Amino acid sequence: MVFLRPLILLYSTSVRRRGPDTILRETNAKLTPSYILHDTPLCTAERGRAAKRIRGKLSITKKNYMPVTEPINKKNIAQQDFLPLQGTDYIEFYVGNAKQAAHFYKTAFGFQSLAYAGPETGMKDKVSYVLQQNKLIFVLTTPLRTGNAIADHIYKHGDGIKVLALKVDDATAAWKTTADRGAKEWLAPVKLNDESGEVVLSGIKTYGETVHVFVERKNYKGVFMPGYREWKTAYNPPTAGLQYVDHCVGNVGWNQMNPWVKFYEDVMGFRNILTFDDKDISTEYSALMSKVMSNGNGFVKFPINEPAEGKKKSQVEEYLDFYDGEGCQHVALATNNIVETVTDLRNRGVEFLKIPNSYYDDLLKRVGHIDEDLAPLQELGILVDRDEEGYLLQIFSKPVEDRPTLFFEIIQRKGAKSFGKGNFKALFEAIESEQEARGNL
Ligand code: FE2
Repeated sequence: MVFLRPLILLYSTSVRRRGPDTILRETNAKLTPSYILHDTPLCTAERGRAAKRIRGKLSITKKNYMPVTEPINKKNIAQQDFLPLQGTDYIEFYVGNAKQAAHFYKTAFGFQSLAYAGPETGMKDKVSYVLQQNKLIFVLTTPLRTGNAIADHIYKHGDGIKVLALKVDDATAAWKTTADRGAKEWLAPVKLNDESGEVVLSGIKTYGETVHVFVERKNYKGVFMPGYREWKTAYNPPTAGLQYVDHCVGNVGWNQMNPWVKFYEDVMGFRNILTFDDKDISTEYSALMSKVMSNGNGFVKFPINEPAEGKKKSQVEEYLDFYDGEGCQHVALATNNIVETVTDLRNRGVEFLKIPNSYYDDLLKRVGHIDEDLAPLQELGILVDRDEEGYLLQIFSKPVEDRPTLFFEIIQRKGAKSFGKGNFKALFEAIESEQEARGNL
């Protein structure tokens, strides 16, 4: 399927030139709190001026055929980091049955119950379960009725990631700054209060129907945010040692990678720190291209993939077909001990891609000395790669839905700041064998 959404439109729509307070008043006047996150008025397209500005900056060229790590110029970053981010705040999934999904993430991935919102807390149209594991926060949301944005999202995409929320010091400033730079509004700044303090949220759109929500919680002491209550349950399986979000990868359509790179550069002040072309990421049959975007302090990294021509269908195309559009392909979850974590996850029923034994035959020749024993890595199917700063260990789950869409990566970094380029071939061959089994290669 070819996605030919006009590129310029992604950048050309600037926010309605109204003050956030006006929007907040209008929103709150009509809607219950549960709508606030999802049904704010859409922005008005003021296409001409912004389009011209952005069009001038777009240059879709294939100039870099080698992966490049650009040196960080601290002076430039300080000047350019107009959107200081403190990291990932939470990831919200829209799912068909949040109660069961919460059970899955607790049982299979070791998350803990944290908070709940639903009719009992004043949210009449949806429920959300909030799960925590160290710095990871997942929110699982399901609508209680049809005929709303969340239900439509699930009907179209299946279970998937809607919100990649970013922690900021000032959510209103983050929204204004990105809006002024061409972001499309998703949520005008809104203040939520309860007896534990105040959370300020705002949101902008990114690829597909995915959004970034800016979360300002410096004045909040409660469990998650107003509208939620603490969720206590007798069922509390132990954690699996997952620590924080290392990176989140987006799959975008044909010829859409560079426009989205420009979006992250121009609107959010990110930098392109690594580039992989279709020669780096290809097997005998299929290919993709990828650019890794990082914010100034490196806390937030968003690789962007697009399909590339190959003899057979790219894994990115399969995702786009089954997700029915662009979206988040995988989230990499960091651990401090990948052997223990993956052993635990596998025992809990998480399924991982199988890597051919031949991968391990000359692994140590390729990557040099590593601290870990080879046998458990081979037994579990953990991959190893080295860059100039150290090495990393990683493994990829199978999709966690019936649609071949979202999956998870488990990663342990031992100095390396890269993304496992040396493993791409083995990994993508493993993905292809799964694609073939599904009849989608
Ligand atoms: Fe990854």
